[in-house]
Order: sequence, then C-alpha cells, then structure tokens
Amino acid sequence: METHQKTKLGLVLATDPRWVNIAEMQIEDILSDHAWCEQKAATTGISLIVKYAYQPGIVEEVTPIVAEEWGHFRRVLKELNKRGLKLAPPRKDEYVKKLFALEKMGLDSKHVMVEKLLISAMIEARSCERFRLLSLHIQDDDLKVFYREFMESEAGHYHMFIQLAKSVLPAEYVQNRWNEFLISEAEIMKSMELRGDRIH
Ligand SMILES: [Fe+2]
Ligand SMILES: [Fe+2]
Repeated sequence: METHQKTKLGLVLATDPRWVNIAEMQIEDILSDHAWCEQKAATTGISLIVKYAYQPGIVEEVTPIVAEEWGHFRRVLKELNKRGLKLAPPRKDEYVKKLFALEKMGLDSKHVMVEKLLISAMIEARSCERFRLLSLHIQDDDLKVFYREFMESEAGHYHMFIQLAKSVLPAEYVQNRWNEFLISEAEIMKSMELRGDRIH
C-alpha cells in the first residue's frame, strides 16, 4: 500500500508517520490550518479561472474544484464547531511560498500556466499524502473517516491539474518539469521543521 501510494503520487520524500502523533495533540491548530489550506485552494482555483479563462478546459475543470474546495472549507469549519474549537487566524504559508518560488521566470504564457498548474498539483499531492497519514494513524475514529474523504478528493484534484497541464503543453515536457518539481519539493520538505500545527 505504501509503495503503491508513493508511486501514484510520485512524492520523493515521504512524511514521517510520527507527524500524526504531534498533529493529534493539536487538533484545534491542525483543523484551523487545514481550513485555511482549503480556502487557499479555492482562491488559487479562482485565480486560474480569471487568468486563463481562454484556455480550453480551465473554466470547465477548475470551477467544480473551486466549489469542492469551498465545500471542504465549510466542512472543516463544521468539524471545529462540532468539537467546540475555534478557527485560528490564518498564518503565512512558508511551504506554499517556497513552492511558488520554484516557478521559472521569463517563460511564455503557456509555460507560465503549466508552472502554476504543476504547483497546484504539488500542493494537492502533498496534502493528499498528509491526509492519508491522518486517515490511517489518527486515534480519533471520526477523524479517520473525515481524512479518508479528503485524501480521495485531493487525489482527484492532483490528477486533474496534471491532466490540464498536459492539455496545454506536450506530455513529455510536463512530465520532465513535474519530475524537477518533485525533486525540489523534497528539498523544501527537508528544509522545513516537522510541525504538528500545520498540514505542511
Ligand atoms: Fe480540498
Ligand atoms: Fe484540492
């Protein structure tokens, strides 16, 4: 299962499963951070639609993802509420900032679009990996089910962003660039402290 999942997502560096043990001691923080991740996913999706509405497939494919991410935001808020927990204010997202810093400069619009689609795919892939760990190892049975659903949903988004990138530029270029992103993302993960109060 581990190998299968790793192959599917292609992530170079797997998260230490002990991360779940730290995270579950800070449920209010982790759920708050998760909620804001969903908000950012919705916001990024809207930006893609606004910027690239002319590209076939973008509006059609990204609009349902935005709706789903906003639904996720609401679901996490509901979960906080159910547990009598409060939504903490948003934080600066170092991981996402570092990923966007990988974007190559001076490219034409199609290549820029692919950079952005692959960064979105990367955030989905890493989130999916973390949600999977939570779904497997968290003690709370309700949260196991909760995170299993998120894992499946984000896996679908990851797949969609890769497919969209391949509809913009040749699959071979996209695959090579994706492989570069995978290596750089592992470096980013290695450079970051493993904290239980954030999804990544
Ligand atoms: Fe989501
Ligand atoms: Fe997503």
